[in-house]
Amino acid sequence: MTGTKTDRAARIIARCREIAGYTEVPGEITRRFLTPPMHGVHKLLRDWMVAAGMTVHVDAVGNLRGLWPAVTAQPRLLIGSHLDTVPNAGAFDGILGVVLGIAVVEELQDKRLPFSIEVIGFSEEEGVRFSKPFLGSLAVVGKLDATNLARKDQDGTSVVDAIRAYGLDPAQLPAAVLSDDVFAYLEFHIEQGPILESQETSLGVVEALVGQTRMQFVFDGQANHAGTTPMQLRRDAMAAAADWIVAVEAYAISHSGLVATVGKVETSPGVGNVIAGHVTASLDVRHASDGGRNVAVEALTAAAHAAGAKRHVQVTTQTQLEQSAVPLDPNLTDILHNVATRAGFPCKRMTSGAGHDAMILAPTIPSAMLFLRSPGGLSHHPDESVLPQDVEAALATALEFLTLLGDDRSKLKDAHA
Ligand code: HGY
Ligand code: MN
Ligand code: MN
Repeated sequence: MTGTKTDRAARIIARCREIAGYTEVPGEITRRFLTPPMHGVHKLLRDWMVAAGMTVHVDAVGNLRGLWPAVTAQPRLLIGSHLDTVPNAGAFDGILGVVLGIAVVEELQDKRLPFSIEVIGFSEEEGVRFSKPFLGSLAVVGKLDATNLARKDQDGTSVVDAIRAYGLDPAQLPAAVLSDDVFAYLEFHIEQGPILESQETSLGVVEALVGQTRMQFVFDGQANHAGTTPMQLRRDAMAAAADWIVAVEAYAISHSGLVATVGKVETSPGVGNVIAGHVTASLDVRHASDGGRNVAVEALTAAAHAAGAKRHVQVTTQTQLEQSAVPLDPNLTDILHNVATRAGFPCKRMTSGAGHDAMILAPTIPSAMLFLRSPGGLSHHPDESVLPQDVEAALATALEFLTLLGDDRSKLKDAHA
């Protein structure tokens, strides 16, 4: 036991806030894939892991991996989440799952379990730098392919270049693949939404994660003089994009369970006295049903072409991510839910609207997720937070869950037979 229950929760939160200090942009939290601040994060986490008796290494895609061995060669439980952030992020998205994993090992020092624990900090989940999420977890399931390794960021640096620039060797990527003794994956994460808070509930167990499609839409019109070009002679890419963005919102509002977001718009030449000739816009579409999501993507693509046609603006699209909805392991989820409830922590079964590394691991390894309440339902925002009592509830639930698995692994029927 490392101090009182209040102390340990406070220390976990303090550690997340300490790691938040490693950023590309002073004054905010922005940490993209294998950018320089990640060295500081790796050093700090490594110190905590080593102090907890773990052996630590960084794999070829920049995942930080700490192993706490069992008494003998035993199967392995993976606990993890991601170390990268969105721009101007909060201090808990991703990193909380890694810090909680280390805290679990710290609490188990005098209680060896019949399995080892690997705590993994994935190098890239958000998809910010290369417009491709999950580079870290894709590598550990052996699915980081040449196409994705060749992706370039806005400076023209490829994923492979970024790996080398960080001091890693892409030739070692095969060694990043999980060992076949891993029998389950557990991810702790903030909910990032309003559901748990609205129901005054500390914890959530995730039954499934919604599918998501991420695309780029390009509107090509004609730049021209803002003062001399009559309205009926314009090919205004900005007006076409704006018309479409409003249509995206209206479509999503009118279709239950659907969310669709245009979060990034870039225009050129981007000055007030020139009609925009070129606009690039993102689209993020999510739904629990893959069918519902695909119908929406088709409808929103047609709406973009219609908005363009009205203005003689050409529209082209590129799909960056097609991720199906992923169910998590029902057996593990039941155990997690029962353990939390028996321990006296209100715990809601739910679907995740956010994507997580668990959706990449789950098709390969029985996986479960434990959500912590997001005060204000806020995330991907500097005011993102977590409550100490919920951190304690998650830690206590995790310890009970692991003890139960240790006492009776037969409970862990392999749902992926
Ligand atoms: O965007 C997401 O769903 C996650 O926060 N990466
Ligand atoms: Mn996120
Ligand atoms: Mn996250």
